[in-house]
Amino acid sequence: MTEDWRSGLAGRVAFVSGASRGIGAGLAERFSELGLRLVLCSRSRPALDESDRVLSRQLDVRDESALEALVGEAEARFGAIDLWVNNAGVLEPIRPVRDVEVEEFRDHIETNLVGVFIGSRCYVRHLHRQGRGGVLINVSSGAAWKPYAGWGAYCAGKAGVERLTEVLAVEEAAHGLRAYSVAPGVVDTLMQTQIRASNASDFPDVERFRQRKRDEAFNSPRHVADEFLAIAFDPASRPREVAIQVAFDGQSTGPSRDGA
Ligand SMILES: NC(=O)c1ccc[n+]([C@@H]2O[C@H](COP(=O)([O-])OP(=O)(O)OC[C@H]3O[C@@H](n4cnc5c(N)ncnc54)[C@H](OP(=O)(O)O)[C@@H]3O)[C@@H](O)[C@H]2O)c1
Repeated sequence: MTEDWRSGLAGRVAFVSGASRGIGAGLAERFSELGLRLVLCSRSRPALDESDRVLSRQLDVRDESALEALVGEAEARFGAIDLWVNNAGVLEPIRPVRDVEVEEFRDHIETNLVGVFIGSRCYVRHLHRQGRGGVLINVSSGAAWKPYAGWGAYCAGKAGVERLTEVLAVEEAAHGLRAYSVAPGVVDTLMQTQIRASNASDFPDVERFRQRKRDEAFNSPRHVADEFLAIAFDPASRPREVAIQVAFDGQSTGPSRDGA
């Protein structure tokens, strides 16, 4: 990161859902370290407690009125939100489609796709009320592009997130919204632990993810956070595409198309 735009980060306002652990907690910690003011939520307690710079709430992203109430609080406390990250997500059920119950599929989509719709709509309405633009990042996955056997709900939900984000980008460009779906690469979170614990009969690619753990070939949450900040605030790295992926952190030869 170059210092010029980074020095302007202090005081910016960012929303992050799914901030209790994993990528969301990493985003919250790195954003806070750089002086951003934060609006955080997850069903269990977010990684950062309430403070003068942090609005921290336990809520479910499927709960439209709870999220709208949080945005109202954020407006009153901080004013306009510069960056909104719909990060909350689940992976299960991990099983062939033939073995997945309709209710399991529906529950998954309620969080991973309807939850992103609710969050995106809250943000767009917030920006319209504020009369200004902003940056929306919907956390996607390599699973949006690649069909993994055993991940029917996850692949369908993430593909939906990508197309929804593309529609938002078209609808709201004239109002100053930049919308991106960003695949963060493979990050060693609880979600990865769940993947590695899968049966090969349910998830035939499991061994590749176990090997990745043996190689410790992961993106760090801090790297993902820095990439998100660059997308949002560095004029020099402003992406032209809506669907983008975070390149591998270190030693790889290119970006990973693996999903979570
Ligand atoms: N890790 C990877 O390699 C990877 C790769 C590609 C994409 N992703 C995506 O990155 C995002 C974060 O994943 P992660 O790996 O950090 O997973 P994780 O460690 O399981 O964390 C998921 C987060 O989402 C929250 N969450 C889940 N359902 C929620 C709901 N209904 N309402 C509010 N919060 C909810 C969880 O908090 P509570 O349980 O407290 O609510 C938790 O904070 C997900 O969208 C995932 O699909 C991850």
